Amino acid sequence: MRLNIKHISEMHKKGEKISAITAYDYTFGRIADSVGFPIILVGDSLGQVSLGYDSTVPVTMSDMLIHVKSVVRASKRSLIVVDMPFMSYQTDISDAISNAGRLIKEGGAQSVKLEGGAKMANTVSRIVDCGIPVMGHIGLTPQSVNQLGGYRVQGKSEEEKENLIKDAKAIENAGAYSVVLELVKSDLAEEITKEISIPTIGIGSGPNCSGQIQVIHDLLGLSLGESYKHSRQYLDLRKSVSEALKQYLKDSNSGDFPSSKESF
Ligand code: KIV
Repeated sequence: MRLNIKHISEMHKKGEKISAITAYDYTFGRIADSVGFPIILVGDSLGQVSLGYDSTVPVTMSDMLIHVKSVVRASKRSLIVVDMPFMSYQTDISDAISNAGRLIKEGGAQSVKLEGGAKMANTVSRIVDCGIPVMGHIGLTPQSVNQLGGYRVQGKSEEEKENLIKDAKAIENAGAYSVVLELVKSDLAEEITKEISIPTIGIGSGPNCSGQIQVIHDLLGLSLGESYKHSRQYLDLRKSVSEALKQYLKDSNSGDFPSSKESF
């Protein structure tokens, strides 16, 4: 049976950690689902890791729909959350509702995620009113990279701190069932987690969030040339894949592959 937002809130009430991971395609969606993650996020980080853009800004609704459909087909149990891409919800409420609806109806996801705090509260509330669960996302909001001028830790000044607490409360009051805290100073993330009743899902926000989320490519050592302080690399898959492919290239060039056993 597939998990829903009630299961997530029960886990939170019981004090269980809510661990989430991104996936962007059928192959990794299947693995993540079978391992038992309660939440799989089809993140717009696919812009960088799958599509080769240098930010999430160029990602479109069509991109998100193709990828979310493949992860939904791959999964049986995880709650599938899909990112609303840049400018699919910022322009006006009716765009936001119809795009959220497409990601649920056509994409098959069970929840959408969108970036922004107090300024986005009305949008969150209107989408929730339509029966669509919303995960918020505050702190570093990568879709605003051009406005923010880069990716940096949030909540360092007193003003940023107060604004982030206000943002978290606004998103909770708007009806979101959870909120991602990205690159928020650990002590502030802990304070926000205590101040609101919905679960906080941290990335680069320390150990005291209600759960964690990571980009799968970072954990598996597949990210191109980058490693981040906030992620732990469990595998060097890029190296293993390169070695395997080099060996195949060599065997194929030399005529060693295919052998008689590998032929009909
Ligand atoms: O797009 C994404 O992968 C995300 C996570 C970093 C939370 O939004």
